[in-house]
Amino acid sequence: LTAGIVGCPFSGGQPKAGVDAGPLELIESGLLDDIKALGYEVDFQGADTLAHALVSDGTADPDIGKLKKPRLVSKVTKELAERVYAHSSKGQLTVTLGGDHSLAMGTVSGTFKQYPEAALIWIDAHADINTPLTTPSGNLHGCPVSFLLGLPGTSKEEIPEFGWIEPVLKPERLVYIGLRDIDAGERKILKEHNIKCFSMFHVDKYGIGAVVEMALDHVGRQRPIHLSFDVDALDPEVAPSTGTAVRGGLTFREGHYITEAIAETGRLVSLDIMEINPSLGHELSVQQTVSIGRSLVRCALGETLL
Ligand code: ARG
Ligand code: MN
Ligand code: MN
Ligand code: MN
Repeated sequence: LTAGIVGCPFSGGQPKAGVDAGPLELIESGLLDDIKALGYEVDFQGADTLAHALVSDGTADPDIGKLKKPRLVSKVTKELAERVYAHSSKGQLTVTLGGDHSLAMGTVSGTFKQYPEAALIWIDAHADINTPLTTPSGNLHGCPVSFLLGLPGTSKEEIPEFGWIEPVLKPERLVYIGLRDIDAGERKILKEHNIKCFSMFHVDKYGIGAVVEMALDHVGRQRPIHLSFDVDALDPEVAPSTGTAVRGGLTFREGHYITEAIAETGRLVSLDIMEINPSLGHELSVQQTVSIGRSLVRCALGETLL
């Protein structure tokens, strides 16, 4: 099996510098050798493949309503979608290294083009389901899921700048684990669309083993899986170097268990590791966070399945 690795050094979906350095840190820490050691061929075009698309070319990008850097985010994620699809359509398991979570507009679009029946498992402290109408911050890393679902405010007519995004996702094929910081507008959307959410309350109540089983049962066990992992799902004591840390998160083992259990299904087709920001925190915090990103990838690719 070949793993298609996409490095996406992008920070335009949120205001803090440094999250764009995540992919290179992961690569330099030895991630590609890890993946090869697991028996995969690696198809990696270089951490800078998307570089030309990743920075603003200087053209004005004024806010659209509340949304910040909308044209830049749209351009980058559109290109990322094509990149992910290129790997997926060759039968590769795609691993995208972020970068901020707005990138999931691209990764999920690319994966679902190849696997329209796929399920999306979203591991995060946040639901990232704000629409252009509900976002309190205007940061697009808080919005990718609403575009993928085609919620009100995201249509081509309402915001032609994102018209390339197809509403590939159905609410019943989406499941969250790790939630603990939801905006009021998001809460309403999650309820209205009956979206399955396992918050930290449920992780504590049932245990992570049962939560993952229920999550897989909910989306259907025969589907290909896209796993989008925001490292802020982990407790800040475990993964401190991230832009929007929230206390009370997943332990080291709970985070890894999720990736191991998904690997065990044999259905993982696409993995995102997002929101590692190596410029936040002291050297030890950064090392710890990068090292966890790396071990999450290894576990998702089957390291601990003997
Ligand atoms: N809900 C907040 C917002 O919309 C925070 C989102 C954080 N997202 C993330 N990918 N870390 O701005
Ligand atoms: Mn988050
Ligand atoms: Mn659209
Ligand atoms: Mn996120």
